[in-house]
Amino acid sequence: MSKPNMHKMRVWDLPTRLFHWALFVLMTLLFVTAYAGRMDAHAAMGQAVWVLVVFRLAWGFIGSQTARFSDFAKGPSAIRSYLATGQSRTLGHNPLGAAMVLALLATILVQALSGMFSSNGIGFDAPFAHLISRVASDSVTSLHVTLAYVIAGLVAIHIAAVLLHWMLRGENLIVPMFSGKKSVQSGTSELRFTPAAAAFAIVVAAAVLLALARKFI
Ligand code: HEM
Ligand code: HEM
Repeated sequence: MSKPNMHKMRVWDLPTRLFHWALFVLMTLLFVTAYAGRMDAHAAMGQAVWVLVVFRLAWGFIGSQTARFSDFAKGPSAIRSYLATGQSRTLGHNPLGAAMVLALLATILVQALSGMFSSNGIGFDAPFAHLISRVASDSVTSLHVTLAYVIAGLVAIHIAAVLLHWMLRGENLIVPMFSGKKSVQSGTSELRFTPAAAAFAIVVAAAVLLALARKFI
């Protein structure tokens, strides 16, 4: 039963939700394929992650209100204030969650880029590995391998934080990442949403850009 003075409101747009769950599936498969030695599948999915993250960075500037960096990237003082009061000024990511979102996006972007210059030393060279020397490619591969552990750690903290938030504060953040909707106080002003077609255009542009880079570089 819903609480009095509360109603359901759309908080996350469809592109952001699709981005999240596609990223989750691809990242899981990236670890599986890497350790199974399925490098062709690994490289293909890694490039799909690159497209997703480039989309998410662009969506952070032109996307719907809760997807914009200006809505949630607020800096250390906002994090301190959130930790002290437990109150967040936005309906989207709280300031602490926002720091994790930025860390995940940045590390995954570097991971996807470093993968493009990596080589497994036993016959698989990523599409851009030939552009740099073997020594440089080995260093980039080391970075790629190390960063994979960093990302696994960040993801573990991310999932633990979501579950702890649910257990300690009684707010389930997972269902809204599927449904898009959260319970909010009546009278809360409506959020601004960018048409999903714009998201589709960005994804196509990012994929074309990657295909052109692979063809001409
Ligand atoms: C490889 C695994 C994962 C990665 C890389 C990842 C990454 C991210 C990113 C980048 C965001 C920000 C979404 C955006 O604004 O675009 C996010 C949000 C979120 N993720 Fe994940 N995620 C992963 C797995 C999961 C899993 C398994 C769950 C569920 C237990 C989950 C629950 C959430 C929730 C609830 C949010 C929204 C948090 C909020 O309300 O502020 N994530 N995740
Ligand atoms: C963000 C996406 C990516 C993730 C999370 C990821 C993750 C991983 C992991 C976990 C490993 C195994 C590390 C180990 O041996 O301990 C690995 C290896 C590797 N990845 Fe990725 N990867 C990503 C993107 C890519 C891309 C886009 C490419 C190439 C197009 C690529 C190419 C490689 C290569 C060549 C190796 C073998 C390194 C070696 O055997 O030393 N990866 N990656």
